Amino acid sequence: MKVVVAGASGGIGQPLSLLMKACPLVDHLSLYDVVNTPGVTADLSHISSVAKIEGFLPKDDGMKKAFTGADMVVIPAGIPRKPGMTRDDLFKINAGIVRDLIKGVAEFCPEAYVLVISNPVNSTVPIAAEVLKGAGVFNPKKLFGVTTLDVVRAETFVQEYTGEKDPSKTVIPVIGGHSGETIVPLWSQAKPAVKIPEDKLDALTHRVQFGGDEVVKAKDGAGSATLSMAYAGFRFAEKVIKAVKGESGIVEPTFVYLPGVEGGDEIAKETGCEFFSVPVELGPEGAKKAHNIVSSANDYEKKLLKACYDGLGGNISKGIEFVKNPP
Ligand code: NAD
Ligand code: LMR
Repeated sequence: MKVVVAGASGGIGQPLSLLMKACPLVDHLSLYDVVNTPGVTADLSHISSVAKIEGFLPKDDGMKKAFTGADMVVIPAGIPRKPGMTRDDLFKINAGIVRDLIKGVAEFCPEAYVLVISNPVNSTVPIAAEVLKGAGVFNPKKLFGVTTLDVVRAETFVQEYTGEKDPSKTVIPVIGGHSGETIVPLWSQAKPAVKIPEDKLDALTHRVQFGGDEVVKAKDGAGSATLSMAYAGFRFAEKVIKAVKGESGIVEPTFVYLPGVEGGDEIAKETGCEFFSVPVELGPEGAKKAHNIVSSANDYEKKLLKACYDGLGGNISKGIEFVKNPP
């Protein structure tokens, strides 16, 4: 299992690369960034784990060397928010960064599972899909927008109502997209069931939808979530790797191109969105089956979903348009 981290020297990239280096399921770790990969690679290379590690900069065909033979490419490259910015404000810079990295995927490792972390995820994943389509190598089962941080936050924030000692034991499907009102936690589908007092529901939902802002504000200009994102990104990547290696029954919400995944057409029809995060069963080929949990939403959640559809459609079109008609 050769894993590439693209954006490996950044706030997410470094701790994510650390977790990948420590993971016994990873045989070969390849770090790519426009700066500082020699230092990050040298540092991580002293860790006595199985993964062989290499680092590359763009010079001397670095992207080709980093990406060739990769089974998985995880992309946390791009600028993060500062207070007062929306994720969509990052589009101007990050759209081009993701487009160019995905061109590299299409050229050097078209079979790889691609996990997009760079924001705005609601647009960068459609960008990735369009670039891969244009190159004739799009496999929707292998392209994932990483929305796991929303799931991790929901598990954490609901703990006060579950009484569970370990918050990760409560499964909360968080669906839709990855920004503000497009993030929809389906509390009614929690397993085991959770009783949330009605007067606390709005605040809890808002905290999941705007959890990213909480961190941006606390970091006060020094960026957005990095450590919790590295944890979440690794959690999702590890699940994909385990499924690829044959473990069955792994389900995790992720932002996928619905028409390309079994069960996705019905969800696309119901939501009006081609790209959407739903719990996806993972298998050796990647996304095996999208679970239609949308129709099980209660009336409160249906209202949240309506706002989600309204926002998400525009974000998706903006990404597709960026590739089809470059500015
Ligand atoms: P950062 O600035 O600390 O790191 C970004 C890294 O990307 C830097 O090392 C930079 O050199 C590198 N980079 C820039 N252009 C590149 C290119 N063309 N090729 C390779 N590397 C390149 O930022 P961060 O805090 O790590 O955040 C990275 C991105 O992840 C941001 O867009 C942020 O909004 C996003 N993010 C997403 C989630 C999520 O839930 N999906 C959560 C947190 C952050
Ligand atoms: C998050 O949810 O923490 C990330 O998307 C980063 C951000 O900009 O909020």
